Amino acid sequence: MNLLVLNGSPRKKGTVATLLRAVAEGASDKHKVEWVDVYDLKMKPCVACMKCRPDKACALGKDDAHAVGQKIKNAGGLIIGTPTHWGNMSTPLMTLFDRNVPVFLGEQSGVPYPRQKGKPAVIVTACTTPWPLNFFAAGSRGSARAVCTVLRYGGYRLLGQVVKPGTKRRPQISKNILERAKKLGHRF
Ligand SMILES: Cc1cc2nc3c(=O)[nH]c(=O)nc-3n(C[C@H](O)[C@H](O)[C@H](O)COP(=O)(O)O)c2cc1C
Repeated sequence: MNLLVLNGSPRKKGTVATLLRAVAEGASDKHKVEWVDVYDLKMKPCVACMKCRPDKACALGKDDAHAVGQKIKNAGGLIIGTPTHWGNMSTPLMTLFDRNVPVFLGEQSGVPYPRQKGKPAVIVTACTTPWPLNFFAAGSRGSARAVCTVLRYGGYRLLGQVVKPGTKRRPQISKNILERAKKLGHRF
């Protein structure tokens, strides 16, 4: 299976990227893994023209959002990582999803249906809010829930999540969390 990693953090050696690498390492025993740094993509924001709903593709001029949308379609599963920004996923990751609504869902008589039904996915998040406060909306709970919403619309099957809270006071990632990330990768 081809798996696609979407790194929604600007920090290529940060907490999210490190945990994504651990999940990818676990998965790469059995699968081919491709990595996309979402902050490197050249893409315009969605203009909410809604043409993608009937047209099944974004009507804006061709850019990286179309290219990565195709990769998402072709991938057998997704490994998505995002830092918590204002209790949500990072802006470029959201832009990528905004630009690819029809990759995730279709509409029949105004009723949405999933286009990637049954594909496996893993979510990785980090936040400075320490445990257990990260379970409140402005912590990792908010960012994980936002990514989950997109995955749910797409019909993905969530294999699990890796969360690293409290990154300001404790930036180091414990062996336990890294091990958990690698094991999650094995579940693909
Ligand atoms: C613009 C911005 C907004 C942030 N908002 C939150 C927040 O709402 N809640 C939180 O706990 N941490 C917040 N953070 C902190 C990051 O989530 C935290 O530093 C995380 O560990 C970053 O992961 P990374 O190093 O892998 O990118 C914010 C950071 C930035 C840059």
